[in-house]
Amino acid sequence: MDWNQAYLDANTPWDKGMPSPVLVELLGELSINAKIVVPGCGTGNDIVALLDANPTSVIGIDIAPEAIARLRKRFDGNPVVHPVLGDFVLHAKEHPASADVVIEHTCFCAIPVAMRSAYASACSQILRPGGKVMGVFYWMPRDTDDITIGPPFQTSEAELHELFGPDFDLHISVASVGFPDRVGRELRVVMTRRPIVNDERTQGSV
Ligand SMILES: C[S@@+](CC[C@H](N)C(=O)[O-])C[C@H]1O[C@@H](n2cnc3c(N)ncnc32)[C@H](O)[C@@H]1O
Repeated sequence: MDWNQAYLDANTPWDKGMPSPVLVELLGELSINAKIVVPGCGTGNDIVALLDANPTSVIGIDIAPEAIARLRKRFDGNPVVHPVLGDFVLHAKEHPASADVVIEHTCFCAIPVAMRSAYASACSQILRPGGKVMGVFYWMPRDTDDITIGPPFQTSEAELHELFGPDFDLHISVASVGFPDRVGRELRVVMTRRPIVNDERTQGSV
């Protein structure tokens, strides 16, 4: 998938021009002054909502130069928002234990399924102990069990436990709010990073 070309072609059906209703619902669970990272942030619709929680910083990371260019323009002069052009997995390696919260919305479902364990390790790496992954995971984007169709690639509660369970305590429910075409197809997820005990992934060795 050429994400940058999709932005250049305005072929971005995922970009709803507003934050995910699930994230808006989760804002009450964000502590103030948090250092937040948003992987696959696109043009920053979710970041608009996150600013209401008075964070210390919001790092928006995306591999598509066009998305990051639009993000820079959108938040030009805002001292809290830091656009980063790059791969979330590499960024996490370079910034271990630097964040309080990772916000997930349509990044996990966009990456190849084979990259998912690297994504989960990146969340473990970039969060301080006690930090959280919060957000919305696409559970069933289409009426099929075929996990190879995508993006978006679907997931399951069992897969999230398998990937994140070793390092996180997970709270998962089917989201009761959402964009009209997604209600009942997304999981509302809050995962809390357990204390780190001799974890080589936090030492940049993945
Ligand atoms: C489906 S779009 C969602 C964008 C945004 N979250 C939204 O809802 O508007 C997926 C985004 O993830 C970005 N992306 C894909 N792989 C990535 C990676 N490894 N690191 C950072 N961003 C990535 C793409 O460039 C794209 O902007």
